[in-house]
Amino acid sequence: MRGVLLAGGTGSRLWPITKAISKQLMPVFDKPMIYYPMSTLVMAGISEIMIITRPEEQHQFRQLLGDGSQWGLRLEYGVQPRPEGIAQAFVIAEEFLAGGPVALILGDNIFHGGGLGRMLQMQNKVEGGVIFAYPVANPEEFGVVEFDANGTAISLAEKPAQPKSRYAVPGLYFYDAEVVRIATTLQPSARGELEITAVSEEYLRRGRLQVRVLDRGTAWLDTGTFNSMVAAAEYVRVIEERQGLKIGCLEEAAWRAGLIGDDDLRRLAEPLCKSGYGDYLLRLLDWTEPSYPEPVMWHLQ
Ligand code: DAU
Repeated sequence: MRGVLLAGGTGSRLWPITKAISKQLMPVFDKPMIYYPMSTLVMAGISEIMIITRPEEQHQFRQLLGDGSQWGLRLEYGVQPRPEGIAQAFVIAEEFLAGGPVALILGDNIFHGGGLGRMLQMQNKVEGGVIFAYPVANPEEFGVVEFDANGTAISLAEKPAQPKSRYAVPGLYFYDAEVVRIATTLQPSARGELEITAVSEEYLRRGRLQVRVLDRGTAWLDTGTFNSMVAAAEYVRVIEERQGLKIGCLEEAAWRAGLIGDDDLRRLAEPLCKSGYGDYLLRLLDWTEPSYPEPVMWHLQ
């Protein structure tokens, strides 16, 4: 399975901050925003990723991420000239996907929680589509999924004025190879976008959509507004300080996934020591089992 990370858009809800720099390169506490969704893909077992950006911003992403080989990844870059909708990502990535299934993640979505990586890895043989549902206080700001009394998804709506449930659809989607054809046949919505919700609706109509409710122990944050960006940074800071473990640490995710070895991690750490980030990477090498046991929750699931 290959991954697509969508990091375009105008970021206009964060202007003037994002006038000269992509939103997905803004810091969320101690790392650029894009590290978080990239780590999520790596934890899901994905190492070939296309990063889609605005044409004029691609060089910034290349400067930060390169070809990904330093983390054992293969990164490709795609461009989206205008923000014509999330579902356009599949059309842009068609060649890269080479007729295989895809995990799409939005560049401003942060996921964190025990057992998440393992649960995501189970989606890599997806047939049809798998999306997630997460209870939020403000569902009208997201895609919303409605369930019947048996917990079966029965409808989806993009930012409905009157949401039929409090379950938002987070920006992480697994689809089989059919998705490219579905995206190609979509018509732009009233707001002029190829809607990701319309893609999932099509899978739902065909009876081929699974909606998994994320465990309430999972944190899902998006960072599209001033407040949500500060809230996400605060969340990361509090948890990292408490646990001494980083969230969204790409180097760590690649190392734990076996994409790079101890020597690679040491090499990556060296230039990052002044900020303390590199010291963290070096510490990982000393925390051998059993001093770094797996969280209990992983065993319970
Ligand atoms: O965060 C989850 C939500 O993301 C879902 O619940 C919604 O169903 C989905 O439509 C989307 O809603 P947003 O209003 O948050 O989408 P936004 O326009 O903010 O874009 C999300 C990310 O995707 C952001 O990092 C920019 C990028 N993007 C978006 C569009 C529309 C692109 O790169 N290109 C685009 O054309």
